[in-house]
Amino acid sequence: MAGLIPQSFIDDLLNRTDIVEVVASRIQLKKAGKNFSARCPFHNEKTPSFSVSPDKQFYYCFGCGAGGNALGFIMDHDHLDFPQAVEELAKRAGMDVPHEEGGRESRPRPPTDSPLYALLEEASKFYQQTLKSHPSRKAAVDYLKGRGLSGEIARDFRLGFAPPGWDNLLKHLGGDSLQLKAMLDSGLLIENTDNPEKTKRYDRFRDRIMFPIRDTRGRVIAFGGRVLGDDKPKYLNSPETPIFHKGQELYGLFEARKNNRNLDELMVVEGYMDVIALAQQGLLNAVATLGTATSDEHVKRMFRLVPSILFCFDGDPAGRKAAWRALEATLPSLEDGRRARFMFLPEGEDPDSLVRAEGTDAFQARLHQQALPLAEYFFQQLSEEADPSSLEGKAHLATLAVPLIDKIPGQNLKTLMHQRLREITGLQTDPGHSNANANPAKSETVDTDAYYYDSSPAFPDTTERNTTSQSFTGYRARESARRSSAPRQSSRTSGVESPTLSALRTLLQSPRLAGQVETASHFAADGDIYTQLLVALLEALQKNPNQSALQLISRWHGTEQGRLLRALAEKEWLIDASNLEQQFFDTINNLSARQRERALEQLLLKARQTELSSDEKSQLRELLNRESSPAKPTSSGA
Ligand code: GTP
Ligand code: MN
Repeated sequence: MAGLIPQSFIDDLLNRTDIVEVVASRIQLKKAGKNFSARCPFHNEKTPSFSVSPDKQFYYCFGCGAGGNALGFIMDHDHLDFPQAVEELAKRAGMDVPHEEGGRESRPRPPTDSPLYALLEEASKFYQQTLKSHPSRKAAVDYLKGRGLSGEIARDFRLGFAPPGWDNLLKHLGGDSLQLKAMLDSGLLIENTDNPEKTKRYDRFRDRIMFPIRDTRGRVIAFGGRVLGDDKPKYLNSPETPIFHKGQELYGLFEARKNNRNLDELMVVEGYMDVIALAQQGLLNAVATLGTATSDEHVKRMFRLVPSILFCFDGDPAGRKAAWRALEATLPSLEDGRRARFMFLPEGEDPDSLVRAEGTDAFQARLHQQALPLAEYFFQQLSEEADPSSLEGKAHLATLAVPLIDKIPGQNLKTLMHQRLREITGLQTDPGHSNANANPAKSETVDTDAYYYDSSPAFPDTTERNTTSQSFTGYRARESARRSSAPRQSSRTSGVESPTLSALRTLLQSPRLAGQVETASHFAADGDIYTQLLVALLEALQKNPNQSALQLISRWHGTEQGRLLRALAEKEWLIDASNLEQQFFDTINNLSARQRERALEQLLLKARQTELSSDEKSQLRELLNRESSPAKPTSSGA
């Protein structure tokens, strides 16, 4: 199963798929002129504003702004990730999904069909039922009530109760040897083979509150179980199984997404009860790792869904250690446009106790005032380890900081972090950016792009107005924040869309223009994420010129870039832009010129300090000779 799915296959698959059929098999469609309409499956509405276009093979909701192609639709509708959605469509089309060798790291993917899913679903129903009707249910219900939970929240999280006794579940589910094996494989049953004459089998979870752990599709894949009192161990989790890998799963992620599939921030907390207590108080974006440290995999998973993560940990030494590990796991995913924040709670409190004690508003205000942007926390923590008031401390601090900063993929954030390190230590630690980004005059041409992320600055900024989150202002505010996350006119740009965004939009509208840009790589080194996206689109189109806008967008589905592209493509539906080509080529030429200037500047600077290598010399020669116009305008001459 490992390996990338070749783009050519995805293109083929989309060509053989009819979005109308895909959507119609899931919701009821009505013919409306050229298109089909329905009540939107992604938000609550009375009158249909959801529309599917057979011509464009695209769906769009005028109510909530959801839109995309067939793959995007089933990803969002069925809660599938991209490979799963491809599998699903391929099954429909009777195609086998090929996988390229040696693609990304080949972590084992859970099987899409395993008998364990049905079994765990049965078990979950049993535990839920027990909480409703078992003779010994009272203690469990009282316990949950005592922790402030309502019946509705218990239902939403499918909380259950494993009654006291050794074989309640075994008796309930038991059957043939195949069933027994499945129960053992799923971790529901424990087998004791000490006495070979007489194998003992018994329920793993006994007399515990049961928390079903669900995957992103909502399938139960494991359980956590809590004792009602103070016995040990307090929590018991399912063991690793073919469908449950603790280090990758986040408790509450399905529920959070179900409530709002366009969250802009996830809050990571430590415990099951924290997630549920926050939900009970109306904060529906919390997830918890399952008693493990935050992993790179967790972070990647979250950033595929939201641009911002808030880690919320105890203020005690264990919590601080967990936070630092979370920071380390986050750095490799910090593209520009993403952010992470860190919140430390007063000692002895966890989100559950705190939100119940002080209420939602005070808790949110606390987050708002106290959450530290990652960069802030980073330097604060390192300054505690290496006191920058002495030269030795400065040297040590730089030694600790540099390898960590260099893990950050976002060029802008990386540069800014190096700058901050330089302010603290006086050391120049970022040779690659000695001059390039430091000159604001030079960036004027495209930097207005930064306005796109209103609720998530491109980098954690502590000098300006406190970075605030819109995530905690309730569902409606989030909803409107999401809608307005389409690129829009900002006061700074006084009604004019930035050139790079315009160029992206033009390219989505007329993908064939890519054929007239000779060398996108000339400005590939530019750190700006929109520029990078433009380069990526150009390169994809140059490799495979017949792609439609939708095929392009599908590559980035589920990412922040995907959201941007989708928003731009949606504009295409509404705006009939006629004369954008000239501007497109102007932008390309500007970007290219800027990149050339930067590279030149760096080489010349270096030449003043040392002798250039022969490679660098020929690079310099090439730059000096390079045609300044890599793109051919269609109309008026260059
Ligand atoms: P409550 O006492 O129910 O509020 O627990 P909590 O959620 O505050 O738990 P705590 O902060 O003690 O632990 C956080 C998380 O660590 C839990 O949600 C579990 O995932 C995990 N954990 C805690 N205790 C145990 C344990 O005894 N065994 C295992 N396997 N995991 C545990
Ligand atoms: Mn707790």
